[in-house]
Amino acid sequence: MSSPVLDRRQLIGAAAVAGLAGGGPAAAQAGPGLKLSRPCVVSTWDFGVAANAAAWKVLSRGGAALDAVEAGARVPEVDLKNHSVGRAGYPDRDGHVTLDASIMDQKGDCGAVAGLEHIAHPISVARRVMEKTPHGLLVGDGALQFALEQGFKREELLTPESRAAWKAWLKEHRYKPVANSEVKTYGRELGLPGGKTNHDTLGMLALDAQGNLSGACTTSGMAWKLRGRVGDSPIIGAGLYVDGEVGAATSTGVGEEVIRSCGSFLVVELMRQGRSPREACREAVTRIMKRDVARDPDFQVGFLAVNKAGEVGAFAVQKGFSYAVCDAHDQTRIVPSESLS
Ligand code: GLY
Repeated sequence: MSSPVLDRRQLIGAAAVAGLAGGGPAAAQAGPGLKLSRPCVVSTWDFGVAANAAAWKVLSRGGAALDAVEAGARVPEVDLKNHSVGRAGYPDRDGHVTLDASIMDQKGDCGAVAGLEHIAHPISVARRVMEKTPHGLLVGDGALQFALEQGFKREELLTPESRAAWKAWLKEHRYKPVANSEVKTYGRELGLPGGKTNHDTLGMLALDAQGNLSGACTTSGMAWKLRGRVGDSPIIGAGLYVDGEVGAATSTGVGEEVIRSCGSFLVVELMRQGRSPREACREAVTRIMKRDVARDPDFQVGFLAVNKAGEVGAFAVQKGFSYAVCDAHDQTRIVPSESLS
């Protein structure tokens, strides 16, 4: 699984071959050739298109990347078709919907919440943590108390659909992460127990007209997780990292592996050392897979990164990861990520 670093000409050649091999224009753009104009915003998964549209409203009128990523992340948080983020997220094994989110700007300012219940917009609470407290991460009841003090509305987040899925899962108690579940479950009605057991994440990175970077990450985490389980999304350096001089990265997939590898921090550090976003994401995925452990065939992790120049790259363990890109040229493009297998 080692990944020799190819030079730029080789990479462009590889991308061209992907296009000639039938991958089509989007596949050809999945390589190093994907460079967006400023301002721009990118998000994990197909549902990132709608999130990007909200962020684009901010960016296209000269707004700040930080405002853009907050606005964007709020979209899947209240999308009732989305069972891996926000209000309609699947609960833990005890029936509690617990949300994780983080936000970070080009100055290194950041805020996060983990295990937050009853608040539909964890990303906005994360921003308040960043701006209104001396802390970086609030969890559980403390995060809820802070959110209520800040005026956020307390809500029941377990929707009838999520409750039905949880009840169905309880019949079998089968805990099995499913790769690319965002694609398999988004917008679909619930069905068989245990079949849609996982997760994942909206990770968003924006570069504004002033050249400032920010990122946001929000999720309900793994469906049917143990009560108290926290993934990578609210951990700065794992699910999200921004360095205003270099670039930004975010992740999706099995958060335990991303935490273990400080994944998004690693991607940004590799970009600092001169790797392209795509090369950096590939190396981070490769390192995760070097760990010699038995893995479920459905195991998935994907990274998405952008550098200060607006170059975008992504890489995943296996096929199925996609990301949405948006700039003045095209606001709705979905790009299939490259993967190790
Ligand atoms: N990547 C999201 C999680 O593992 O919770």
